[in-house]
Amino acid sequence: MATITPPSDAEEIDGLGELALPDWFVHMDKMAGVGFLTIAKRLPSLVAQAVRMAWQASPRDTLATVVLSLLGGVFTAFGLLATTGVLQALFAEGPTPDRVRAALPSLILVGIAATIRTSLTAGAGWAQSRLDPQVSRIAEERLYGVTSRVDLVAFDDPEFHDALQRARTRGVSTADSVVGLAIDVLTGAIGILAAAGVLGLLHPVLLPLLVLAVLPDAWAAVRSARMRYTTMYALIPAHRRKWIIGELLAERSPAAEVRSFTMRDFLLGMYDAVARAEQRILIRLAGRQTVARLVGEALSGIGTAAVYVALGLLLAVGAVPLAVAGTAVLAIRSGQSSLANLLYATNRLYEEGLYFTDFLAFCEQADARVGAPRTAAAPDTFERISAEHVTFTYPGADSPALRDVSVHIRSGEVIALVGENGSGKTTLAKILSGLYEPDEGTVRWDDLDLAQVEPHDLRGRIAVIAQDHTRWPLTAKHNITMGTDKGEPVLLGAAEVAGADEVIAELPNGYRTLLDRRFKDGKELSGGQWQRIAVARGFHREAALLICDEPTAALDARAEHALFEQIRRHADGRTVLLITHRLASVRYADRIYVLDHGRVTEQGTHDDLMAVDGIYADLYTLQADAYSA
Ligand SMILES: Nc1ncnc2c1ncn2[C@@H]1O[C@H](COP(=O)(O)OP(=O)(O)OP(=O)(O)O)[C@@H](O)[C@H]1O
Ligand SMILES: [Mg+2]
Repeated sequence: MATITPPSDAEEIDGLGELALPDWFVHMDKMAGVGFLTIAKRLPSLVAQAVRMAWQASPRDTLATVVLSLLGGVFTAFGLLATTGVLQALFAEGPTPDRVRAALPSLILVGIAATIRTSLTAGAGWAQSRLDPQVSRIAEERLYGVTSRVDLVAFDDPEFHDALQRARTRGVSTADSVVGLAIDVLTGAIGILAAAGVLGLLHPVLLPLLVLAVLPDAWAAVRSARMRYTTMYALIPAHRRKWIIGELLAERSPAAEVRSFTMRDFLLGMYDAVARAEQRILIRLAGRQTVARLVGEALSGIGTAAVYVALGLLLAVGAVPLAVAGTAVLAIRSGQSSLANLLYATNRLYEEGLYFTDFLAFCEQADARVGAPRTAAAPDTFERISAEHVTFTYPGADSPALRDVSVHIRSGEVIALVGENGSGKTTLAKILSGLYEPDEGTVRWDDLDLAQVEPHDLRGRIAVIAQDHTRWPLTAKHNITMGTDKGEPVLLGAAEVAGADEVIAELPNGYRTLLDRRFKDGKELSGGQWQRIAVARGFHREAALLICDEPTAALDARAEHALFEQIRRHADGRTVLLITHRLASVRYADRIYVLDHGRVTEQGTHDDLMAVDGIYADLYTLQADAYSA
């Protein structure tokens, strides 16, 4: 077992908060139980999984690879046996021309076997290299298929991120090499079987000697692969941290703040601390791997010598004739070269296989994070949405973000959620939109509990203008339609409501302008312009329920007024849940809920709440005074 100790000079990284913690090494105990036997036992299942994946990618190419490799092995054995015939004829008594003539038929057979074998190997290689890109595609599609399906809450879980990082940075790219290596292992094994079969036929004692010659190498190879993997596994969190800092140093969006806050030295220092700790561990690993390899090779050299000594002895005592001994040398060399290939492939298969297993494990784990299929279809509309006694805690959080919250929304109403930063408004909106499931309590559309409704269906009925909306690196049109096509009038209508039409009118290619400066001809928008696009996106969805989470935070006064007017009039019968700090615009809401530390503390119309003289009245007066002063 590779032993890894946390960097002794952890103090060096002191002052860098979590970077100083040697918690990168927490995974080591998980690996402590992995021994040689475990690996030997795991290989067949790895090969099976790889072959299954290859089969899924292309049954024809998989079959071609395996069958052609098998036939190649058969012809190797056949060629070796034919060689015995050649040698027997050459070593027989009699004049040389006669001996050569007698050897001729066997010689022709050897030639034919070699030609066929070469063609088969080439065919197998071709089929195998056709498999690679097909397997890669399948693996990548599987990965992104599950990452986009898991419940949103998974993304709040650091363990999920670790597993995702392992699968994404290393795991997924190993799929094709694992398949290739599994086939190499099969081919190598077939080659050895062929050589071993021939050796066994020649003299049984040669067989165990051959095994002896290569076993130490196998041990060294597996040991070194294991050391490398355990180290890499332990280093993943450090890698991730390094990667995150790297992004901050090299990405466009933080580039301005890195400069304006003169953060270069701070960030580079952090990067260096992690990189140095990692470098020390990797250099130590290289040393240990070299020792393991040297020991293995020395032992296997002794083994090979033993094989040839044994062969010499057998020859000396007359146990095998010269022709047989000659063939045995050839068979041993062919077997050894197959074994060398097999070992190389096994070694790499084991190492890559560990990453591949990470990929498979991640997919399995991610599948488990996809909610069980629900039977009920989401209703098209509702008379009343009611959240009852909803409690919700983010994974790993100490206290709930929502406690015993109950709210009601009737069709056609405008409902406002207000409250200070961190009071739980966005969280409640995410629960009402089916993005998170409450830990306790229920959300119902009329009598239907959303816990029974297929979330994908439900989300189709709801539009969310998110507080932290994404700036999609797509065209202006796709930033609004989000892959749906409802025709030009809907698109133009939504853009107009949000004031996005003015923004788009100024773009060089109108709706077809790419909104990402990282690409050629891409354009960047201002914060408020982006928000108009995000609002248009919400309206374009034409959903039964429209949730607006701070839709105007970045809008100018005119755009804000226009949007609130639109929401207030909601002439199209839309139901709106409005979250905003601009209290002047919630005056007209049918009902206002005030959240405080995850609880609903006040509710009612503007007039009700002003009469209560609580948090709402406080905040409202504060804002109103600021304007009237
Ligand atoms: N993904 C998350 N993981 C863990 N905790 C979270 C997460 N998102 C929010 N929180 C916590 O939950 C609480 C409620 O956050 P929420 O975003 O709902 O507040 P909010 O009322 O929308 O605030 P704001 O007015 O600033 O938008 C906060 O204490 C916040 O720290
Ligand atoms: Mg919020």
